[in-house]
Amino acid sequence: MKIAIGCDHGGLEHKNAIAEHLKERGFDVKDFGIYEQVSVDYPDIAVKVTGAVTSKECELGILVCGTGIGMSMAANKVKGIRAAACSDHFSAKYTRLHNNANVLCLGGRVIGIGTAIELADLFVDTEFEGGRHQRRIDKITALEE
Ligand code: RB5
Repeated sequence: MKIAIGCDHGGLEHKNAIAEHLKERGFDVKDFGIYEQVSVDYPDIAVKVTGAVTSKECELGILVCGTGIGMSMAANKVKGIRAAACSDHFSAKYTRLHNNANVLCLGGRVIGIGTAIELADLFVDTEFEGGRHQRRIDKITALEE
């Protein structure tokens, strides 16, 4: 599975640790930066990672900023993106199972690196359940029109 990842200056260490971990697990990780501790505007990174997901270059995306919230707000403006800001295991799992989220947003100033890696693992390892949840996703998609 190919995974797009990116961060702003609030999430560099977390992003690097997650990218390294997922690569070690055998995932094909495309890193959209940032690559060093410089201040950037999170929507500029969100647009790169979400673009890789909507173009189907990557199956899922992971974005890290200080809170995970700005990244999720920006990502959810992009047609076809269902981004979820998560800081607990249950949400990271169920946003795949029920919401078919395609982008996970994490807060580098909210959770530790160990938790961030666990949430990323849960997110990429969990399949959408479909069924009644597909009808609800279709209604979300209809809101884009
Ligand atoms: C950057 O300082 C910070 O605002 C950003 O990383 C993020 O937390 C926004 O939601």
